[in-house]
Amino acid sequence: MPQNYTNLSLSEALAQIAEAVNAELDHLLPLPDGPESRVVDAMRYSALDGGKRLRPFLVMQSSYLFNVSKSSALRVAAAIEMVHCYSLIHDDLPCMDNDDLRRGRPTCHRQFDEETALLAGDALLTKSFEVLAAEATHSDPAVRCELVWELAHASGSAGMVGGQMVDLRAAQFAMDVPAITRLQQMKTGRLFDFSCVAGAILAKAPHQQRQALKNYAHDMGLAFQIADDLLDVEGDAATVGKQTGKDADAGKATFISLLGVERARAQADMLAEQAIRHLDSFDEKADLLRATAKFVVNRRS
Ligand code: IPE
Ligand code: IPE
Ligand code: MG
Ligand code: MG
Ligand code: MG
Repeated sequence: MPQNYTNLSLSEALAQIAEAVNAELDHLLPLPDGPESRVVDAMRYSALDGGKRLRPFLVMQSSYLFNVSKSSALRVAAAIEMVHCYSLIHDDLPCMDNDDLRRGRPTCHRQFDEETALLAGDALLTKSFEVLAAEATHSDPAVRCELVWELAHASGSAGMVGGQMVDLRAAQFAMDVPAITRLQQMKTGRLFDFSCVAGAILAKAPHQQRQALKNYAHDMGLAFQIADDLLDVEGDAATVGKQTGKDADAGKATFISLLGVERARAQADMLAEQAIRHLDSFDEKADLLRATAKFVVNRRS
């Protein structure tokens, strides 16, 4: 059965999807009996009960456009959230951003230890592909294969991991606006691309519609990351749920360090408007995606 989001506000739909994704993750990550249960404990600690669940939300909304079954979409939604949570666990490690607070709680390595956090990240990444490749995700193996290919490409050295590499060395390079845009597109944008195109892949939708969703994701993802950088400058840890002021301390070039707060915010607003225009060929079923573009730039956490 496809899900119906008609007449739900964005916050109601976000809450509904967060709950459904939590239940799916809970189901997909059962705690084993043996001594290896510690790693699953850490996976569950970082993957359950927290975060905005924005990437799963985008999977569910893009699936809604094409009447994809809820059970298929939820598995893909859980898979992308696993990759996202793995990226956060590793991002917070002492060898990366060295953060103690994530989603208002101790980071995985603070709650457990570094080796457990490293393994929990590894296992969430691999689990996501196990989920996508399983028959329950889609009856057509070609669709499952395409999902696996797209997520691998978005997550690896041409995508999120590559972006993290550049990010870690950003302070040492002269980063101008095009270089920062490329970095953010890799680090953050590619997982959003996957999330927005997932529904079209599941539905075997035509190229034009996939491209429209990719274009939407491109601008919305960039707006999202500018907002993340703004929160790092302007937010407080209690509201944002993670330590702020880190980017300037690390000497990182961001849109804010290059453009200043006002121009960065204007750029984010412009990108959100541009993202919405990419959805012109879709009817009112895309209204929550339109609202999401505005939400990501105005969010407080
Ligand atoms: C934080 O992402 C990491 C970035 C890519 C900037 P989110 O802001 O989506 O984090 P959660 O999932 O809501 O905690
Ligand atoms: C990390 O970016 C994005 C990932 C790929 C995990 P940040 O380092 O800015 O994310 P936060 O601010 O710690 O969430
Ligand atoms: Mg980082
Ligand atoms: Mg970080
Ligand atoms: Mg940040």
